[in-house]
Amino acid sequence: MSAKKPPDLSAYALETRLTLAGRDPARSEGAINPPIQRASTLVIDDADELYNTPKKTYALEGMAVQDALREALRAIEGGAGVTLAPSGLAACTLALTTVARGGGELLVTDAVYGPTRRFCDTVLARLGVRTRYIDPRIGAGVAELISEETCGVFLESPGSLTFEVQDVPAIAAAAHARGAPVLLDNTWSAGVYFKPFEHGVDLSIQALTKYQAGHADAFMGAVLSATPHWAQRVQQTYKQLGLGASPDDAYLVLRGLRSLGVRVERQSASALRIAHWLEARPEVERVIHPALPSHPDHALWRRDFSGASGVFAFALKPTAPERLKAMLEGYALLSMGFSWGGYESLIVPSDDNIKRSAAAPRFGGPLLRISVGLEHADDLIADLEAGFARLKA
Ligand SMILES: Cc1ncc(COP(=O)(O)O)c(C=O)c1O
Repeated sequence: MSAKKPPDLSAYALETRLTLAGRDPARSEGAINPPIQRASTLVIDDADELYNTPKKTYALEGMAVQDALREALRAIEGGAGVTLAPSGLAACTLALTTVARGGGELLVTDAVYGPTRRFCDTVLARLGVRTRYIDPRIGAGVAELISEETCGVFLESPGSLTFEVQDVPAIAAAAHARGAPVLLDNTWSAGVYFKPFEHGVDLSIQALTKYQAGHADAFMGAVLSATPHWAQRVQQTYKQLGLGASPDDAYLVLRGLRSLGVRVERQSASALRIAHWLEARPEVERVIHPALPSHPDHALWRRDFSGASGVFAFALKPTAPERLKAMLEGYALLSMGFSWGGYESLIVPSDDNIKRSAAAPRFGGPLLRISVGLEHADDLIADLEAGFARLKA
């Protein structure tokens, strides 16, 4: 068995950290990857170790593979602790439940992922937690809305479906001035292109189902905490709720992480090429991609992000529904489906999913979200071009 200790990863570049993070030969008897232990009960021989022990006493806490994944995620995104969740949505609801207080008010970006909004409007509302939706572009202006009752500010940047970039540092400064924690759904950046804890975020959420798993075959989420205080609060809530994370899926996500750097780099480059190509198409009203200079928040994106992942939106000019249907159903490579970040390209019309109460965006024609996969960009452009021919037919 290898006795080599895992090195301190902090000095290494992302690609190297992605390769090494979470690997500990002591945990895996020398194997490169950790074992998958399917376990519930853990047998304890020493009666003194049944209670009040730092050792694991029940496998819901996670075993070697979950520990390896948590360590690896921390090596990528930073922070003081990582809690896994069974899905990305469960990570959002876990983070919200951790900060929610009966009688308190949450400020939530109006461009939040729809099911996160649904959780606020149903479960949290029933428990006496109010939600006020804020303009994603509110920036420092959020200070006026923060009061003694504010129990948290939930951001998502760029926003789901409409890709508004939020001024996270300005919002965090305003929230912290009144003692309110800042939660950020950081899934779009894959934890790679935006460093939440350098921008004042207290709890960073990843839907690992997307880029980290990367192969459309596993659900998982994570809440990363800026400080030991928040790590402990999230971990306690996780335990109180009885959450867990499957070892098989943790293995798949960890395996996905190893190639995350090269996948997201290629997907990002292809997406940007396709975004530029779409911008020049007469059928397209607007391309909404933060890395394009035409994006209204491009300057903010340049300031705070080190790159863009492969998901963006574009709005068509007004078109008949049956022409749109023909365009979408006839693609050879692009498939329709929810989720994103996998190796396969997906496209989905989004208008029916946009729920807003503060700032409703307006487009002339249908809005589409595209998640660019690992197919060659030339082939995807040809597929999109053939789709535009069907739109006109
Ligand atoms: C921004 C964002 N957060 C969270 C989620 C939830 O992830 P999951 O599908 O793993 O529940 C999604 C899913 O589409 C998402 O787009």
